[in-house]
Amino acid sequence: MKRMAILAVVTATALHAQVNKPVEVPYMPFPIKMGKGFETVQAQCLMCHSFGYVLNQGRQSRKFWRGKIEKMIVHFKAPISDKDAKIIEEYLVEHYGNGK
Ligand code: HEC
Repeated sequence: MKRMAILAVVTATALHAQVNKPVEVPYMPFPIKMGKGFETVQAQCLMCHSFGYVLNQGRQSRKFWRGKIEKMIVHFKAPISDKDAKIIEEYLVEHYGNGK
């Protein structure tokens, strides 16, 4: 019992120390590229997952991005029209393409 009391004091002190430290939020440049087609990406691609899924892929070819959009539609049943799929493809190729 005595041990638990000591533990409680130690924990409370540690928490207190954390709260007293000035909180610094690191500056991070917003990595999502705004631009033509972004509203479509926002409307069609971010309803199931965050933009991180796109960013994590790095720069990729048009074939890769077309394949991903198709995968979302075919496997995950994303309700994306052909017209929007094309807009999204152009956006991804322009901002996250590797020139291939
Ligand atoms: C209907 C839901 C849904 C929509 C809409 C959707 N996705 Fe996904 N997406 C998923 C799921 C589910 C996964 C797989 C998640 C996992 O593996 O953890 C995924 C994964 C991904 C990945 C990771 C790579 C991979 O192959 O798994 C990328 C890139 C991606 N999505 C891009 C897109 C893009 C671009 C769009 C818009 C065209 C989109 N997603 C729209 C459901 C969706």
